[in-house]
Amino acid sequence: MTYDERYRRYLALIEPALKSAFNSQRGFEFDGLLDAMSYSLTAGGKRIRPVLVLEFARLNGLEPEKALPVACAVEMLHTYSLIHDDLPCMDNDDLRRGKPTNHKVFGESTAVLAGDALQAEAFGTILRSGLPAEVRAKCAEILAGAAGVDGICGGQYMDLSAEGHALSADELSDLQARKTGALLSGACMLGAAAAGACDEDIDTASQYGAQLGAAFQIRDDMLDVLSTVGELGKPIGSDKREGKTTFMSLYGEAGCSRMVEKITALACSTVEKMDTNGFLRELAAKMATRRG
Ligand code: IPE
Ligand code: IPE
Ligand code: MG
Ligand code: MG
Ligand code: MG
Repeated sequence: MTYDERYRRYLALIEPALKSAFNSQRGFEFDGLLDAMSYSLTAGGKRIRPVLVLEFARLNGLEPEKALPVACAVEMLHTYSLIHDDLPCMDNDDLRRGKPTNHKVFGESTAVLAGDALQAEAFGTILRSGLPAEVRAKCAEILAGAAGVDGICGGQYMDLSAEGHALSADELSDLQARKTGALLSGACMLGAAAAGACDEDIDTASQYGAQLGAAFQIRDDMLDVLSTVGELGKPIGSDKREGKTTFMSLYGEAGCSRMVEKITALACSTVEKMDTNGFLRELAAKMATRRG
């Protein structure tokens, strides 16, 4: 199976599962909240994090279908972080995944609640899955780590506190590792953990995800300057407008390109032994040169 075939196969599992995720909760007075949640969850997106869950599950001996609830949970949590990231009190952006942002369509209070509910439903989805109890507990622990102070929330707090004043290279790397690295790393760990992998294998997954995440955010910062709204599906120039220190503002295009190349090579070498079909290598390479 080629890389593209495998990616498409994973999307064919992920997309319908996300589409029907809240069907059983429909038919009540809070359908408006579910509409807001589904709007952002099914608006598109690359689905890298759930794909990573399914591939790491497969590499550790679990059929991807069985890891699907965990994959959906990661995408719910990621989508919550995007809805909140776009709010006027955060990055104040109007476009996401090629569509008006959640608060533009549903209003700010509903967007906040849609994000909150997606985060809670992410944990519920893992805890209600058919995986063994100790596996569910481990997965919930990993997701909490990626979402909380050592993950997205801590990183987003650093990102917003730093607006308008310069960060050092070390501070920016620490911020990035939390804001973006933690969930990409968490997605890889979750796939391995869903398959009941040993600590050493979960650690390898974590390292690959963290390295992929570092390259991913550098590329994201580059695209905020170099890409187009059409390709990106989100506004360009947002970082400069909000007074952020980014990898682009610190290192420039050539410096960023060199860093992405170097870190991507490191990620590939981390999984060299286990990545028997080269999917993880190809995914890292594709992310390093992505336009959207
Ligand atoms: C965007 O993530 C936010 C960052 C962590 C930089 P993605 O680039 O994965 O966004 P989608 O899911 O494809 O929309
Ligand atoms: C946000 O980083 C990462 C999240 C935790 C959502 P950015 O603010 O750079 O993400 P984009 O560029 O808006 O997608
Ligand atoms: Mg942001
Ligand atoms: Mg943003
Ligand atoms: Mg960005």
